[in-house]
Amino acid sequence: MFQSKKVLVTGGCSFIGSHLVESLVADGADVTVVDDLSSGELDNIETVSSKVRFILGDLRESRVASECTKDKDIVFHLANIHGGRGFIETHPGEICQNFLIDGNIFYHAHLNKVDRICYVSSACAYPTTLQTADPSRQQRYLSEEMADPFQEGSALADGEYGWAKFMGEMALKGYHRQFAQKGVSCRLFTVYGPRENESHAIIAFIAKALTRQDPFEIWGSGQQDRNFTYVADVVEGLKLAAANISDCRAVNIGTDEITKVIDAAKIVCELTGHTPDNFKFDPSKPEGVHARAASIKNQESWLAWKPGVSFKEGILQTVSWYQNKRTTDEMLDIVQNRLFDR
Ligand SMILES: NC(=O)c1ccc[n+]([C@@H]2O[C@H](COP(=O)([O-])OP(=O)(O)OC[C@H]3O[C@@H](n4cnc5c(N)ncnc54)[C@H](O)[C@@H]3O)[C@@H](O)[C@H]2O)c1
Repeated sequence: MFQSKKVLVTGGCSFIGSHLVESLVADGADVTVVDDLSSGELDNIETVSSKVRFILGDLRESRVASECTKDKDIVFHLANIHGGRGFIETHPGEICQNFLIDGNIFYHAHLNKVDRICYVSSACAYPTTLQTADPSRQQRYLSEEMADPFQEGSALADGEYGWAKFMGEMALKGYHRQFAQKGVSCRLFTVYGPRENESHAIIAFIAKALTRQDPFEIWGSGQQDRNFTYVADVVEGLKLAAANISDCRAVNIGTDEITKVIDAAKIVCELTGHTPDNFKFDPSKPEGVHARAASIKNQESWLAWKPGVSFKEGILQTVSWYQNKRTTDEMLDIVQNRLFDR
């Protein structure tokens, strides 16, 4: 599917974007990356730098979106003002600038006759009311049709970040209905793996475990559950979705392995050889929705695929990468002072 295709990856220097770029290069695609490096890092695409064209640019500017979408067959659109829970809950004005980024990419991809757009959306598009602790309202597995801007009761996305993703999905469908634009929206569920930073729970837990934090701090009650999805699986899911879905519908990219946040912390401790005497829960810190997990029914039927990396396996890979990336002093500084960074 991607061999010799001209592919643009927006936000290609990010954690997820960089793994996608490497995989597309391995597939023989002709890859361009556009990124403003606000949270992405050029080092992330170092292994393929000689094979990739890099554009340093801010996609809030129409001119940049116009330039990077010229002569492209496929756009994977990941550029986004985003961070962990601590960042997205404290930067609502900046998060709303994602409307500009998505609007510019869709408009210029359309003007430049890009064949397909793979829009990287999020589980945050789902109504938060389906993800509460109240079992009478909670949906254990979130299925694609449960987030729909035109369906009464199906639209209450998770904050400004979730609404921007949800409106991005709606805009892409609008381009499909009016202009026959081909594409897909991929709703990612709590991704983790090498190159993620400590503003996300799993990497923060690894840093705390490796620095032997005790009591071991967890934001919120620890009772929230997630389906943590390994980055290599996400890359595979994104490519399959781009290849197999063209009517701009949304598809979940996530595992069906559900893990409570406290259990995730315990597994990280176990795999790093840390046995804290106590876990300390901090209700003053943001913790997100209570229960979030993907239904994988449509993913299996539309893509004939599901993620293959277990949580323990993914954690082992991530720990081994992280141990080589940071010194203990750097980890301590981040854990003590910078968990709200992007
Ligand atoms: N990490 C997750 O668990 C998760 C879950 C759901 C969705 N996503 C989505 O996946 C994508 C990648 O996220 P990530 O977690 O890998 O890292 P990220 O959030 O750091 O990626 C965003 C990338 O976009 C770039 N960027 C930001 N503003 C830009 C602008 N104005 N112009 C050009 N580039 C800009 C950043 O430098 C970065 O490389 C994002 O769209 C994110 O919303 C991530």
